[in-house]
Amino acid sequence: MPILTFANTKGGAGKTTMALVVAGELASRGHRVVVLDADPQQWVSRWMTRLPKSKTFSIIPDINADNIEATIKDLSKRSDYIILDLPGGLSPLLAKGLGLSSHVFVPVQGCALDAAGGAQVLEILKQLADTAGIRIPHSVALTRVNSIITTRALQAVRSLLARQNVHVLDTPLVERAAFRDMFDAGGMLADLNPATVSNLDRARDNARALSEEIIRLVPVKLARPKAAAPRKVTKKAA
Ligand SMILES: Nc1ncnc2c1ncn2[C@@H]1O[C@H](COP(=O)(O)OP(=O)(O)OP(=O)(O)O)[C@@H](O)[C@H]1O
Ligand SMILES: [Mg+2]
Repeated sequence: MPILTFANTKGGAGKTTMALVVAGELASRGHRVVVLDADPQQWVSRWMTRLPKSKTFSIIPDINADNIEATIKDLSKRSDYIILDLPGGLSPLLAKGLGLSSHVFVPVQGCALDAAGGAQVLEILKQLADTAGIRIPHSVALTRVNSIITTRALQAVRSLLARQNVHVLDTPLVERAAFRDMFDAGGMLADLNPATVSNLDRARDNARALSEEIIRLVPVKLARPKAAAPRKVTKKAA
């Protein structure tokens, strides 16, 4: 069960929003998704109390450096994707969470590499690889991108990061009211009312494209095939 982590030490970089958009989309596709709320502010857990009950989506509050490993172990057989929403700032939890991840996504707003916050996460990942040989795949995920920003401008950011050997997701999360309203309304994108939220269909298309790219990058592990039933040994007629 892959662990998808959203990390940027800068507060307000867009971690929680992207984590929930992806979590909601994966759950709506039938994957069993658990969001680990590691932010002491517990915004996600409070938001959860207003969500309709779901068979495929749940949130575990109060995740910290002491309980994260055991929690993940406990969930491993009961979930298809674990989504880890880390708080801003540098902490032991950040290093531990990154080390346990299957893939780390670093949300970065627009084109200014959000700057130091994203770079700090990339630096910790590099240290994990250099000093402990733990190589965690990771990607920068552009977010709050202006919907009319030219493809050319985005391309420039991608090639800049590519020169530094940083993978960037093809699909940015666009700046949309729907992604803000999810929190205010206490629901997933699917629960929002298209009559009151502008461009909701575009936000949903965006969420779908981003999640599909993430699923391609980190496919859910297929259930282990059942052991083949022992063959019946039939005595050959003499
Ligand atoms: N794609 C988006 N479109 C519109 N608003 C967005 C988008 N992404 C994030 N926001 C808004 O930006 C603000 C910060 O986002 P968010 O809470 O996701 O950041 P964060 O990195 O989790 O912050 P923190 O470090 O405090 O946990 C929120 O008000 C959120 O609604
Ligand atoms: Mg957050």
